[in-house]
Amino acid sequence: MNEPVPVAVVASGGGTNLQALIDACSDPAFPASIAVVLSNRPKSGAIERAKRAGIRTEAVLRREFPSREEFDAETVRRLRAYGVQWVVLAGYMRLITPVFLCAFPNRVLNIHPSLLPAFPGLNAQAQAHAYGVRIAGCTVHFVDEGADSGPIIAQAAVPALATDSVEDLQQRILAQEHRLLPTCLRWAVENRISLDGRRVRVALGPGESSMIWDGQAIHG
Ligand code: GRF
Repeated sequence: MNEPVPVAVVASGGGTNLQALIDACSDPAFPASIAVVLSNRPKSGAIERAKRAGIRTEAVLRREFPSREEFDAETVRRLRAYGVQWVVLAGYMRLITPVFLCAFPNRVLNIHPSLLPAFPGLNAQAQAHAYGVRIAGCTVHFVDEGADSGPIIAQAAVPALATDSVEDLQQRILAQEHRLLPTCLRWAVENRISLDGRRVRVALGPGESSMIWDGQAIHG
């Protein structure tokens, strides 16, 4: 097997998606390794999880830079030092600028807890719950200069039950996030994802799907 592809995970929060990636990368057969976890919040759960896993960490504080562009330039400089080929935003609560995107063109992935383009932005699960959707879910997409607006790689849908609290729905979606994100990272580092404008094509293997309904792969 080839050497695992070095990737970075950028996160601001508790890091359960990072943990799913750490667990996936702990399989020697998984084609990626996390070279660095970078956060804008040095005391975040994500940083703690990385340290527990023996993964190198970097913290870049927005307040130490006069502009978003200079903050992103420092972030890029830190990431490049680790030779990463892909960047995964796993609960990164900042919009990235063209400085970041130009450094990693079509190489930045994001996980969002809604079926985009519905409910972009913060608290997507609560937005969906308040709207009264019957089907909710999560999306892995390429990051572009917009907010949760890049080309979609894969989506997982789950039922939204009338009896659900926001927390119930959030947990049901999160369970699918933890499956979808490592799957999409595998496809990315195996160069199985191609972009045609906004349309994403994935060279799927046997039994694989980029459309998941309540944990089951949908083919077609
Ligand atoms: C996840 O719901 C993810 O979809 C969103 O931010 C949340 C991060 O959760 N972008 P965690 O820090 O991975 O637990």
